[in-house]
This record gives sequence, structure tokens and C-alpha cells, in this order.
Amino acid sequence: MTRAPKNNFGVNFVGTGSAKPTQVISNDELGLRVETNDSWIKSRTGISQRRVLGKNESLTELSTTAARQALQMADWEPESIDLVILATSTPDDLFGSAPKIQANLSATSAVSFDLTAACSGFLFALVTASQYLLNGSVKRALVIGADQLSRWVDWDDRGSCILFGDGAGALAMEAKPNGLDGFIDFRLKSDGSRGDCLNVPNLDVFQTLVPGKMYQKGGFSPIQMNGQEVYKFAVREVPLVLDELLISNSIKPSQLDWLLLHQANQRILDSVADRFKIPNKKVLSNLANYGNTSAATIPLMLDEAVRDGRVKSGDLIATSGFGAGLSWGAALLRWIGPN
Ligand code: COA
Repeated sequence: MTRAPKNNFGVNFVGTGSAKPTQVISNDELGLRVETNDSWIKSRTGISQRRVLGKNESLTELSTTAARQALQMADWEPESIDLVILATSTPDDLFGSAPKIQANLSATSAVSFDLTAACSGFLFALVTASQYLLNGSVKRALVIGADQLSRWVDWDDRGSCILFGDGAGALAMEAKPNGLDGFIDFRLKSDGSRGDCLNVPNLDVFQTLVPGKMYQKGGFSPIQMNGQEVYKFAVREVPLVLDELLISNSIKPSQLDWLLLHQANQRILDSVADRFKIPNKKVLSNLANYGNTSAATIPLMLDEAVRDGRVKSGDLIATSGFGAGLSWGAALLRWIGPN
């Protein structure tokens, strides 16, 4: 999927926010649960610690906090928001948590819904929101990426539990008629035929409903992952989709100010950066502190880099999300910032 021809509207990125659980789990602490150690995890993934939601926190609260920060940076009144999209695979409510966030924010005019595309969720939601903005049907959209994968991690599987953490990030997006356009282009891709290497399948449990008739009891298995297959998928497809996007927009890798990839594994980030000869200092990474927070990684990272002054108004960012589905994609963005 690619961007439609440009029309009267552009998209400005005007606010970011993020929130993390208070509970920190270090690599050494994980070693108390499974046979692993800090040096193995760091050298294979770049991760030092992750955050895990505890008893007195919730994903909806985390998302609300991240969203409030983005509103504050954008200087928006909550009633002025038209659209709230929550990218998540782990909502507090299977019927959707976005409306609860909309209510928490008092965004009384906004329509809100959840969108699920696993670790690509934020990118898919950003592209979805941009379509409403570009076609003129909404003026202000808030996109949140938030996940509580700790619910579905198999904490006894050392091959996968070391990777994941919880978090939330948000991005405020505004349509500007005839203005500077921060949403340059995108590509989105899916391949369900390869989906088996990373999933959270339904439990295959059937119970008697009435004599002779059954129903499937709700519930999911923990995360099932073939780490090597997912790794190969990421280091192959992410450079391909980024290359396609850069070439079709006549942008050289050296023109990028930042590479903002889904934070899955430092080795994946390094491999993609090497492929384009992008120096380390232009590769945004906070994996060491949070691990893979699924749909939250990109907005969490962007928020940190905007707030500490690394990402400045006018900076050109290539971002890429990838993960279960399989799903992946990339977008070229220009950070505009609050007016
Ligand atoms: N601690 C210590 N040893 C571990 C371990 C751990 N946490 N996990 C696996 N090992 C062992 C294995 O048992 C294996 O031992 P063996 O050689 O004696 O059999 C050895 O380390 C190598 O295992 P392997 O699975 O080949 O490691 P790897 O280099 O592929 O790294 C991942 C594993 C999961 C870190 C890596 O495959 C990866 O990051 N894949 C991508 C996953 C991902 O990003 N998923 C989300 C995408 S959105």
C-alpha cells in the first residue's frame, strides 16, 4: 500500500508523549526466573532492563498519560480532537480500550477505536490516521501505541521472555491546508503465509454449552516465537521496504536525520543501519531501557528524542515497523513540532 497523490492537505506532527510502568525488571532479575544472564541478553539483544505493569497500574492509564502529554505539547484542547486510534494487541478490554482513553481525556468530539497489527501497530495506525487527515475528514488526530505484552509472554521461555516489556507512546497529528507536509510517503505490507513464526493463538478449549453442543472458551496461549525466523524476516524485509520508499521519493540515506526503527533487537537496528551506511549517532535506540514494547516502541522513542532535543523541527525521519502477522512497513516523516 502506498500514498495517494497529494491534495490540498498536509499532515503536521505537533506533539508527543510517553509513559512507562514503574516496575523495572533487570536482566539479572530475569536470571532468577529462567536460565539466562545479563551478558547473554545484552550481547544478543542490546536489552538491559524492561518495564512490566504492576498491580496498581493499567495499560489504559498509561495510554491516557502518554496522550495527555502529547496534547499538552501540541497545545490542544481535548474537545478539539476528532480521532483517537489506539494501536494495541493487548487492550484492557477486548471490545476496545480507545473509547475509555477518549473519555479519560474528555475528548468529547472524538471518534475512537483500537487497531491491531502487533509490533507494526503504531505505523499502521499512523498511516490510517493520516488518511483521514489528508482527505479532509478530520483535523486533529491522536495516535497511541501501547502494549502490555507481559500478559502474554511465557515467562519460563528464555528464548522469548528476555525481549519484551510494557509501555505507551502518543503522537498528535494535525491537517494543515496548503501547509508544510510532514507525512511524505509510506509503504505497508503483510504476509500471513509466514505468520506462524510469531503469534498468540486462541486456546483450543471447547466446553459443553448444552447437551451435545459445544462452544469455544475464550483465552489465548502465551507468545509463540521462532526467534531466528523473525530475525531473518526483519533484517531482510526492513531494508527492502526502506529502500523502495527512499528510491521512489528520490531521497538518499545520507539525507536522513534519523532512523527510527521498531525497537526489537539492537542487532536488527545495527544491521539495517549498516545496509544504508547510516552512522550510529543517527540511529535512535532506547532498547536498553525498555526492550520491545511492541506498538509502543516508535512513539516512546520519538517522544524521548523530541523532548531531549535530538529531533528538531524540520528533521527528516525514516521509520519502520515490523512484526507479527507478518506485517511490516516504513514511512518518511518530517518532524514539524508544536506551532
Ligand atoms: N539466555 C541464555 N542462553 C539462551 C537464551 C537466553 N535467554 N535464549 C537462548 N539461549 C541459548 C539457546 O538455547 C542456544 O543454545 P544452544 O546453542 O546450546 O542450543 C543458544 O543460546 C543460541 O540460541 P538462538 O535461539 O540461536 O539465539 P539467537 O542468537 O537467535 O538469539 C533471539 C535469540 C531471540 C535473541 C534472536 O533470535 C532474536 O532477537 N530474534 C528476533 C526476535 C524478535 O525480535 N521478535 C519480535 C519481533 S517484533
